[in-house]
Amino acid sequence: MTTIDRAFIHAKLATLSGEGLGVVDDGAVVVSGDRIAWVGATDDLPTEARAASVEVLDLSGRWMTPGLVDCHTHLVFGGDRADEFEKRLEGVSYEEIARGGGGILSTVRATRDASLEELVDAASSRARGLISEGVTTLEIKSGYGLDSETELRMLRAAAGVQERLALNVRKTFLGLHALPVDWAEDRAGYVSYVIAEVFEAALAEGLVDAVDAFCEGIAFQPEECTTFFEAARKQGVPLRLHADQLSDLGGGALAAWMGALSADHLEYASAASAQAMGEAGTVAVLLPGAFHFLRETKAPPVDAFRANRVPIALATDLNPGSSPMGSLLTAMNLGCVLFGLTPVEALRGVTVNGARALGVAEAVGSIEVGKMADLAIWEVGHPRELAYWLGRNPCVGRVFSGRLDDLD
Ligand code: NIG
Ligand code: FE
Repeated sequence: MTTIDRAFIHAKLATLSGEGLGVVDDGAVVVSGDRIAWVGATDDLPTEARAASVEVLDLSGRWMTPGLVDCHTHLVFGGDRADEFEKRLEGVSYEEIARGGGGILSTVRATRDASLEELVDAASSRARGLISEGVTTLEIKSGYGLDSETELRMLRAAAGVQERLALNVRKTFLGLHALPVDWAEDRAGYVSYVIAEVFEAALAEGLVDAVDAFCEGIAFQPEECTTFFEAARKQGVPLRLHADQLSDLGGGALAAWMGALSADHLEYASAASAQAMGEAGTVAVLLPGAFHFLRETKAPPVDAFRANRVPIALATDLNPGSSPMGSLLTAMNLGCVLFGLTPVEALRGVTVNGARALGVAEAVGSIEVGKMADLAIWEVGHPRELAYWLGRNPCVGRVFSGRLDDLD
């Protein structure tokens, strides 16, 4: 074994490797640098891990899981949309607000007005809330710039959050989110501009881990998303898709056919989409925060996903319009209560399957030898409690890249 830095012993482990929770009753995790070097029963701890140079932390029966993964957020944005929240409570729909020039376009105006530093400050404060819940990997999308300058500033802000905080940030270029007003008469021209100028510039700066598009009546048609995806595929960039959130445009199937990592939202996804996603191994990323805040009544077809063995992930969708929800534990609870997920599915959704939706399952999402030593420690009797409590955070410690943040 390579040099050992730290050993966590007497933990109840939910490794999330294999099926289910992967429980080890009295477990130990040995850390070397930023990696997991050994996992097993405390009784079997390798003698090297008991050397005087090794920092041994006794978890006294607390639960340890992989660090959580929030695989779908729009964490970088300017302003807020609490005024629209009030309007929606009075009965105006999300689509009506969007078609009236509000919605995403109102956040675009506020984001264009914000400096890089303002964006990083605001996003870091939101990210700290997620970190306190044991999140170690976070996805952040662009999509509120809709021009080269602001989209790049958003992606740089996402990179800035990673520089500032102990967090692994995956940057997604959400190239097709809304049509800017000044391109209203030239949709095809806008798609070409996004591909040839914005995407190319973001790629050249190393700011793109994946691309995304919003496939919807109020956003972009399947054909437009396909054109963008083909350009991204040529560059070898992984694909994600906001699919079938407000209507069924066959987005789930489109994501599957294009070989996307994930299709996200999926309230209106058809049985055919669920089947295509199962065949392709496309992850269904469910976003119960948006369902809740939009007072949606149609839940995604979870039974069809299960029947087709579609991996299910859960995420906050943290954004100022449809999901101002800064808690991944809350997403777990809502996923169970509103979508009928089991607490085990919810935990898999924010660990292994979240990692898969980001294309980083080789490195994070479960407690396995060789993966990043990104871990969360919980004061609970059983991991099902992570989905059970609402507005109560039982995370008492977090390990990022092998280093322990805090332990009460
Ligand atoms: O994931 N659906 C599209 N995009 C975001 C909402 C963006 C917004 O309303 O600002 C979402 O729900
Ligand atoms: Fe989203």
